[in-house]
Amino acid sequence: MILTGIDLLMNLLMNSKYIVSLIGAGISTNAGIPDFRGPKGIYNQKNIAADKIFNINYFKQDPSQFYSHMSELITIMLNATPTKGHLFLKKLEDLGKLKMTISQNIDGLHKKAGIKNYIDVHGNFEKFICLNCNKEYPINDEIIDLIKNFNNNKIFPKCKECEGILKPDVVFFGEPVKMLELALTEVQKADLLLTLGTSLQVYPVDQLPSYISENAKLVIINNTETKYDDYAKLVLHDDIDYIVEKLKIY
Ligand code: OAD
Ligand code: ZN
Repeated sequence: MILTGIDLLMNLLMNSKYIVSLIGAGISTNAGIPDFRGPKGIYNQKNIAADKIFNINYFKQDPSQFYSHMSELITIMLNATPTKGHLFLKKLEDLGKLKMTISQNIDGLHKKAGIKNYIDVHGNFEKFICLNCNKEYPINDEIIDLIKNFNNNKIFPKCKECEGILKPDVVFFGEPVKMLELALTEVQKADLLLTLGTSLQVYPVDQLPSYISENAKLVIINNTETKYDDYAKLVLHDDIDYIVEKLKIY
């Protein structure tokens, strides 16, 4: 019998021993966090200057675009709960099948879901760093309140030592991604690379699927097309949570 769709996905999951997942913003949209390049993504909204928000040179000149955007998003992000997609990965990890999750997301939902082995290649919001003296501050209520209220009072989170502007430890365009070598090593160890909710458009993470080993399989779950679709063993252009519900693994 030739398996397709969800049946093939189940078969591939069952027959794999070293699964690595590569996740993007699409795994968190069902938690209410907007993605970047999906139909409702911030790159498709005219009132948001998305190219300026996450650019390090622009941030150093004027951090207000970034903090204004985060002012609207931070409450949603900090209050969000993991999606079925995240719970699915947690289950696969508990089953001993999923060995590593490579996340491009800064929302921390994979950690909230209880996933233990992950790499935040684009950083996260757990700490803030002074642009001037590099002093580090774990995220705290004072920083959160300043960001929440930024659109009203226009006050940036600042360093206690030197008054420098604080930047969250997230990777902006123009900065190197984190732990790329480890991510690459894990991709090369995988017998199944499972990409979930990523447009696979942002360098260098977009290169990772091309490094899977010769006998490994690539599975893409994303509701729009990616440049690797022709190269994958299985492509499901569907909502992640819908697929997870069909699989009944979450
Ligand atoms: P993108 O917004 O580029 O891609 C998310 C993909 O998920 C899109 O192709 C959507 O169509 C799809 N999608 C959204 N919701 C989905 C759902 N419920 N089920 C299935 N598919 C869904 O986000 P990333 O690939 O994560 O970097 O973007 C990569 C990087 O670009 C981000 O980490 C960020 C951004 O600029 C930095 O800020 C450095
Ligand atoms: Zn400082």
